[in-house]
Amino acid sequence: MASTSVDSQSLEHDLTLAQAAVTKQGDEVRALKASVKEGKAEKAQVDAAIEQLKQLKASLDLKQKEFQSSSGKTSSTNREAFRAVVGEALQRRLFYIPSFQIYGSVAGFYDYGPPGCALKQNITQCWRQHFILEESMLEVECPAVTPEVVLKASGHVDRFTDLMVTDVVTGDCHRADHLLEAALQSLLEGKPKPLSSEEKQEVHNVLATVEELTGEQLGDALQKYGVQAPETGNDISRPFPFNLMFRTSIGPRGDQVGYLRPETAQGIFVNFKQLLYYNGGKLPFAAAQIGQSFRNEIAPRAGLLRVREFTQAEIEHFCNPDAKDHPKFQSVAQEQPLLFSRELQMSAEKLPQAMRLGDAVSQGIIANQTLAYFIGRTYLFLKRIGIDPKRLRFRQHLANEMAHYAEDCWDAEVECSYGWIECVGLADRSAFDLRAHAAKSKQDMSAYEPFPEGPRMADVLVVAADKREIGKTYKRDAKAITEALESLSEEDKACMQADLAAGKACKVTLADIDYPINTSMVQIKQERKKLSGRSFIPSVIEPSFGVGRIIYCMFEHCFDTRKEDEKRTFFHFTPVVAPVKATVFPLLQKPAFIEKAQSVAALLTSAGLSTIIDSSAASIGKRYARTDEIGVPYAVTIDHQTLEDSTVTVRDRDSTTQVRISITNVKQVLPDLMEGRTWASMQQEYPVHASAGDEK
Ligand code: ATP
Ligand code: GLY
Repeated sequence: MASTSVDSQSLEHDLTLAQAAVTKQGDEVRALKASVKEGKAEKAQVDAAIEQLKQLKASLDLKQKEFQSSSGKTSSTNREAFRAVVGEALQRRLFYIPSFQIYGSVAGFYDYGPPGCALKQNITQCWRQHFILEESMLEVECPAVTPEVVLKASGHVDRFTDLMVTDVVTGDCHRADHLLEAALQSLLEGKPKPLSSEEKQEVHNVLATVEELTGEQLGDALQKYGVQAPETGNDISRPFPFNLMFRTSIGPRGDQVGYLRPETAQGIFVNFKQLLYYNGGKLPFAAAQIGQSFRNEIAPRAGLLRVREFTQAEIEHFCNPDAKDHPKFQSVAQEQPLLFSRELQMSAEKLPQAMRLGDAVSQGIIANQTLAYFIGRTYLFLKRIGIDPKRLRFRQHLANEMAHYAEDCWDAEVECSYGWIECVGLADRSAFDLRAHAAKSKQDMSAYEPFPEGPRMADVLVVAADKREIGKTYKRDAKAITEALESLSEEDKACMQADLAAGKACKVTLADIDYPINTSMVQIKQERKKLSGRSFIPSVIEPSFGVGRIIYCMFEHCFDTRKEDEKRTFFHFTPVVAPVKATVFPLLQKPAFIEKAQSVAALLTSAGLSTIIDSSAASIGKRYARTDEIGVPYAVTIDHQTLEDSTVTVRDRDSTTQVRISITNVKQVLPDLMEGRTWASMQQEYPVHASAGDEK
């Protein structure tokens, strides 16, 4: 059951790729035909391209047939059955379990048990290596409890909300958009009765825009489709915003409001100036933080995918808004992840396309090199930890999905039994966050860059603020207003100059308060000046990883069953994430065997590999099955021959085949296997051991 469902999902992806290849080749043929007309290409080139197109179409046809014959198996029932099998394997071996279970648990909280904890550590360590060390990022660790002012400035206090409805009888809370989506989905499935094609189209249209609906519109849609509370069937209230932050108070008097941070990013933004100084005043640089974030989700569900406390790993890359090229972009320019651009999402086929990142930037699909660089690095990271690249796509936010300040956003979405899940958000947030904190804290958040070619003469706009006039009107706020006027960007100065000249209303906004400005308070004039550099508020490019979501998707992608016995489940974790790298087995529970096992385990531990010993009484086959269940890649067994010639058997989890090597080699060979040495090369070098262990 399990592997069938996975096969169908990967067939769906093969189909996606095949379709994308046909579309691309079709475009190629059309372009070549046009070039022949202009005398820029030979007819033979067109013929060759058409031949290739035919082959691609034939392969697409084949894949379509394969998919159709298996499509029954991708039904939601199968996905649920697959999820149940994986979930059972995960919980039985304590990868993660609901928290506070002896008291009945609380939704949205999970404990990682021993293998889960080790695996999570490995993943965050791998992330640290792949991002922080590779880019010399500045890692920080900030408190989770955050004073209100920080989250007021960032907009979370006012806007970090989901729309909620309540069951008018029981008071149970539901996420309004989820209820509408579920209702529309069941209408599409023909429940309670089949829809006409126009009705279907309309439902599809509403479904595509659920996330963008205002509270009012969502309420109207819920009413229109007669949505009621799930389980009880009672009426529901109109939607109202619910802030997702956990509120707390700081200090014994209880009068200082604080919140548990809903993201780790704000800790980095508020430290921007210190980090810039630490970095020698130079841009670009990135800071990173791995830590717990908290969201009081209205309806936590889907296991680790939507929880109330989770680990985030976030990067804030600060750069000059006019210099978003990345010096290392070429290292990822040839990578071809599946990109689901805005245009492809609006197209009739709605299929992502594998595309070189270099092409995506040069064709303006991804806004800039730095954002594309992080997409490439994220793609490599997710592959490295065992996410199937065929079930990973980068989806661009639609224009109306992005915050007004964002320049471009892409989500790394991974497909699992719950559908396509956003695991990483990658956003070019422009200067929004630093500006917001500059305004609220009244601190300078700008960076300065000297012109590389030395000082130059330039026409600049100079702000002459009349402090007396501003003081008369704004009293104690005057100083901050004057500073804000003097630190306006060139662009804002030009706007204000034009507006003042046209007699239009102008203002300065500080901490959400607007202060009208008129010509008696400020004059903006152009002057020719010698400039040696310029000040600006940096742009921020933010990759934000949800560690739990990545882990869960990886669990599903690595889950497998033995062909000969579906009940024997295992996880083919890559060595880098495997919670334990090797299990050492004394074949018999005799002192001679156990002592040898201990000394081999000590050798492996001293080589830096986490190792366990399983000397339980179960048969060796049962013990292998148990170690497979937690995804240990290699098993080292002490058998009778070990006592004679100091050799051990090494078993490969995925193929269950074994070789025999000498104990003196163990310390070298196992680390090599972790570093990517292939099992095939082991089988070539060392004698194969015909095992009795995996027989049933
Ligand atoms: P969603 O729309 O699914 O609620 P989001 O867009 O609010 O997610 P972001 O604010 O972009 O998510 O957070 C960054 C990352 O943090 C997400 O990509 C996701 O991996 C993770 N994340 C967010 N909310 C949760 C949650 N409740 N449980 C687990 N991980 C989460
Ligand atoms: N390596 C011992 C066995 O598999 O039986």
